[in-house]
Parts: sequence; C-alpha cells; structure tokens
Amino acid sequence: MRIPFLAGNWKMHNTVCEALNLVQDLIISTNDVKDREVVVCPTFTALQAVSKLIEGTHIRLGAQNMYCAEKGAFTGEISPPMLKELCCRYVILGHSERRNVFGEDDELINKKIKMALDWGLHPILCVGESLKQREAGETKDWVKGQVEKDLHQLTPSEIEKMVIAYEPIWAIGTGKTDTAQGANDTIGMVRNLIADNSSYEVAQKVRILYGGSVKPGNVDGFMAQKEIDGALVGGAALKADSFARIVKYEEI
Ligand code: PGA
Repeated sequence: MRIPFLAGNWKMHNTVCEALNLVQDLIISTNDVKDREVVVCPTFTALQAVSKLIEGTHIRLGAQNMYCAEKGAFTGEISPPMLKELCCRYVILGHSERRNVFGEDDELINKKIKMALDWGLHPILCVGESLKQREAGETKDWVKGQVEKDLHQLTPSEIEKMVIAYEPIWAIGTGKTDTAQGANDTIGMVRNLIADNSSYEVAQKVRILYGGSVKPGNVDGFMAQKEIDGALVGGAALKADSFARIVKYEEI
C-alpha cells in the first residue's frame, strides 16, 4: 500500500515571513488529514524557519535542490548534510527548470541522487517530455531514457526510497495538463520499467506522482488513477486553501 504523497514545490517564492504564514495556515487546514503525506519544499532561505515551525506536526520538509558533494569550493551550492541538519526528509532533483535553465544533465542528476541517498535523503526525481517530444510521439521513450539514466547503478533498496514525479514540461505553470488517463499510462510505464530493471516489489513501493498544473479542480481526477500516487504542485501550492484542497482530494 503506497501512502499518497502531496508535495508543494514553492520554487523561488516566499520570503521567510511569507513562508511561515503559509505553513501556519497549512498546519491548521490539513490537520485532520490522515494516511497522506504532506510535504512542503520552500527555498533554502526559509528551510530553517519552516523546519522549526513544523516540528511535531504532520507536515514534512523537502528542499528544491542540492549539490553532490559534502562540502568544498562550490560557490552558491548547498550540500546534503546541510539539508539533513535542517531535518529535510526529501530533496527535489532533476526538476525541468534545473535541467533547462541551469543546464543540469542526467549524469549530474544521477550523481546527486546517489549522494542524497548516501546521506539519508529521499530524492523526488522529476522527469518529463517537452512539447516537441510530445507532439512527435516520443513521450514514453524520452521518459524511459531519463529514468534509466537518472537511476543508473542504483540498488533496489536505494530505488525503493525514491519518489518519482512525471511532469510534462509543457504542463508546468501553463494551466494545461496531461489527461488523467495519459498520465496514468506514462506512470504505469515507469513502474513497469522499475519492475524490469529492479524488482516487482520495489516497483510496487515507489511512489510516482503527476505534476504540471495540478489544481483543486483537477486533482481528484488524477488521484482516481491506479498508478498515480500523488502530485507535485507548483503554483497551486502557494496558497494554503488551494494546497489544502489538493491534499484533501476526494476519492472518486
Ligand atoms: P505547476 O508546477 O503546478 O505550477 O505547474 C509544477 C512543478 O513545476 O513542479
């Protein structure tokens, strides 16, 4: 049984003060939620304050990125032990904005995943196709290639600790979404791939999310799909009421 996973990726939004207000509201508005994992991924600058605020609550903490070294001359970067110190449980890796705006490739993402796991962090690996690839009918091949490269040489017990988010790039921040059935198919393909390359048991444990313009109005449809275990939410996670509604998706 996979516990549904609802995560807010705040991207480069919210000062510390705004972050605390948002999380305070979320703690209250999602207090009654049972058997669902609720995760917020603030900016680095807000991690410490949010970490303190959520102590002892049901909300869990994730970071949006990290570098694959313990320490050293890497100006502007943040290491896994720095995230562990702030009680982060998760770290988003390979988001399409990291890949496309900051030029991260699969080799680097694979290194980051290994390093995160070595330090006891659970990566939330993002994969997804561009509009051009979508229109050329290359979605599944592309996503398969990304997953294979990003999980290269990971052991089954490492893969088991991962969360994967399928996020079509053309759906991120655009208000367009994949269909629930389409997302379910691609996610099912990823699960089968893990079963083939790792083991059936591991594939049954890994949570695989959909991301890309998830909103209160469409979350129920995605969550009704068999293979979709949760959502990675950007814009709609920046308001407590809309993220709370997403967390409280209705089983239909
Ligand atoms: P969005 O972003 O919900 O604003 O489309 C999702 C993401 O980038 O993770």
